[in-house]
Amino acid sequence: MSTVGETVGADRSREAGARTRRQAPERRRAAAADPGMTVARASRALGVTVGGIDLSRHFSDAEIATLRDAFNTHGLLLFRDQDVSPEAHVAFSKRFGELEHHVLNDALLDGLPEIYILSNLKKDGKRVGRAGAGHYWHSDLSYMAEPSLGSLLRAIEVPEVGGDTMFANLALAYDALSAPMKSFLEGLEAEHHFAKVQSRVVSLGLNKPLTPEQLAKTPPVVHPLVRVHPETGRKSLFLSPGFTTGVVGMTPEESAALLDFLADHASGPRFVYRHQWKPNDVVFWDNRTLMHYALDDYDYDEDRRHMHRTTIRGEGAA
Ligand code: SIN
Repeated sequence: MSTVGETVGADRSREAGARTRRQAPERRRAAAADPGMTVARASRALGVTVGGIDLSRHFSDAEIATLRDAFNTHGLLLFRDQDVSPEAHVAFSKRFGELEHHVLNDALLDGLPEIYILSNLKKDGKRVGRAGAGHYWHSDLSYMAEPSLGSLLRAIEVPEVGGDTMFANLALAYDALSAPMKSFLEGLEAEHHFAKVQSRVVSLGLNKPLTPEQLAKTPPVVHPLVRVHPETGRKSLFLSPGFTTGVVGMTPEESAALLDFLADHASGPRFVYRHQWKPNDVVFWDNRTLMHYALDDYDYDEDRRHMHRTTIRGEGAA
């Protein structure tokens, strides 16, 4: 385990091709941020666990900048033991950008529409949030003209086993492609449409069809297949198989062959971190460089999985 600043610095030097030094000893204190804040790698592919932090307290601009640096470098921050209120969840999230009100308005928390409820629970026979969300690889809100910057998901109730979330690092996956494949992908664009996945979730009886208003807010959009991270300048694949309907200008067969190849490649174990949830985990991930998959390997009737998500607005992908 090392400090927030040290880990960010170490990764920068690795990117620059410098020699990697050994991890610092356990539980070293963070100098730049909270004096008790520590970080430890979550996996080789991506992510750090940030310890010694209470998300409900006030953070200075310098502390937020340090966390943002770690977020941009590692793609995912994991905060354990965050028994925070929905208001504190929203307040912390807002330090990183403007928050979305998800288009599925009946899955938003009463009085606090920045919270999108992901849940298999029912109250009085009615679902309390969105069931069946994310059981496919995707990047949140890739179906919007301005896809999300990042999401902060807080686990409230989780199954004893199952219901993990997998995250794939699309920058590493891009780096691992050959030079001819990289130049082939340059300039290609794909169409994303929310209705694609919604029809599947509806056919499983987990959600209602989109209303005409919701459909009008989520027309098909087009994004590049290779995007540049607006803060780090790093290139990555822009894949969101759950929402992507095809590559612009290709036949359906060509498009499926290319998108399937890229999704298989990018979801390989060497690019993936699998998060096993505990109650009060908060995971903050970068939708600009990761895709994720919520595993539906738990019993929808017997198990309880209840989460709150905030979603930070992004900018058009370039
Ligand atoms: C999502 O944000 O897409 C769902 C993630 C999860 O429920 O684990």
